[in-house]
Amino acid sequence: MKAISIGLLGLGTVGSGVIKIIENHQDKLMHQVGCPVTIKKILVKQLDKERAVRVDPSLLTTNPNDIIEDPEIDVIIEVMGGIEETREHLLNALNNKKHIVTANKDLMALYGSQLLTAASENGCDLFYEASVAGGIPILRGLVDGLASDRITKMMGIVNGTTNFILTKMSKEGLPYEEVLAEAQALGFAESDPTADVEGLDAARKMTILATLGFSMKIDLDDVKVTGISSVTEEDIEYGRQLGYAMKLIGIAQREDEKVEVSVQPTLIAASHPLASVQNEYNAVYVYGEAVGETMFYGPGAGSMPTATAIVSDLVGVMKNMRLGVNGRSSVTPQYQKKLKEPSEMYSKYFLRIQVKDEVGVFADITSVFSKHNVSFEKILQLPIEEKGLAEIVLVTHRASLQDYNDILVEIRDIETVKELKSSYRVEGSAKI
Ligand code: HSE
Repeated sequence: MKAISIGLLGLGTVGSGVIKIIENHQDKLMHQVGCPVTIKKILVKQLDKERAVRVDPSLLTTNPNDIIEDPEIDVIIEVMGGIEETREHLLNALNNKKHIVTANKDLMALYGSQLLTAASENGCDLFYEASVAGGIPILRGLVDGLASDRITKMMGIVNGTTNFILTKMSKEGLPYEEVLAEAQALGFAESDPTADVEGLDAARKMTILATLGFSMKIDLDDVKVTGISSVTEEDIEYGRQLGYAMKLIGIAQREDEKVEVSVQPTLIAASHPLASVQNEYNAVYVYGEAVGETMFYGPGAGSMPTATAIVSDLVGVMKNMRLGVNGRSSVTPQYQKKLKEPSEMYSKYFLRIQVKDEVGVFADITSVFSKHNVSFEKILQLPIEEKGLAEIVLVTHRASLQDYNDILVEIRDIETVKELKSSYRVEGSAKI
């Protein structure tokens, strides 16, 4: 069989890793797919630049059409990032019958359905394992490994930057701004960290996971997102005293064919497997009706982990080429999208309230919860330094989001309540 020719769009951190794996694992690739793999052309922004990997300069081009329109190129690996321009390149490439492997979660979260349709119309593969949780084979885990099951819940720590920041805040009791600045200095956080810390990166990944896991086309706008920039070290400490760890968690949950997808800082029971995922590591917890609890853990970013997922996708494309079955593996969503209303979304909540330290305050607060039929699982009451004030920290039993939001409005109106300091979703019970 002739060599498979690859066109690489982008030669940054991940692109360099792809080249290293293809070069270093040539024997293994040959063994699996029965032919050599060669990189024929690489799209770069700048021809003369110091790079993490040595490449023959004659392979480099600044013109995407040198790759997209080259009839000898079989597979395009897209690691250049970006959305609109990249989408155009990939649609043109699919129309030219090229298979695609991409790591681009932003693109797949927004235009995955359009690109997958174009791929299947052209008899091409479009694989994107690296777009969620880097080196963790979670998409194949959902699509192949758990193909026979009905997934009801996924919880993901799918952003390494925020997990690094929250881990450090928790271990060292430091404030958010200080840890973010340190993470930026160490290169763990971007100079503009907005997409990571405000939860957008995780939301994009949850869009992809929910669409695959529930076989329902979930859009980015369906995901309710809160980032970590207002999490305080005090919240983390109170959470710890009550038996929880603070994590940015993407939750996708299905009940009675209706789903909810959200990303928010969450207090997760210390006994839950996600609570022990530290530093920049990622993990996706998946609950299937038949299999029960599973968890996929590993590096969510980085040159070699991400490149591993990309080259594994490439092996998938090449195996399909050998069998002549490209373009048949993407299954269109089976179910019509049905989103839950706030009155149907149930969770436990952590609430921290600053109150006047007076007789009857606690009774005023509990009466609001009782009115909405919501009871407490845990309560802490602590005096604070500011004279005449106290802090009440409580964890509710399961309540609907609708009831909980109404409770917050009513509690704000109580005369002796000075401030609602913070509120978080609480997770930990696996089977809901
Ligand atoms: N910014 C991402 C993270 C990189 O922090 O996890 C991988 O998508």
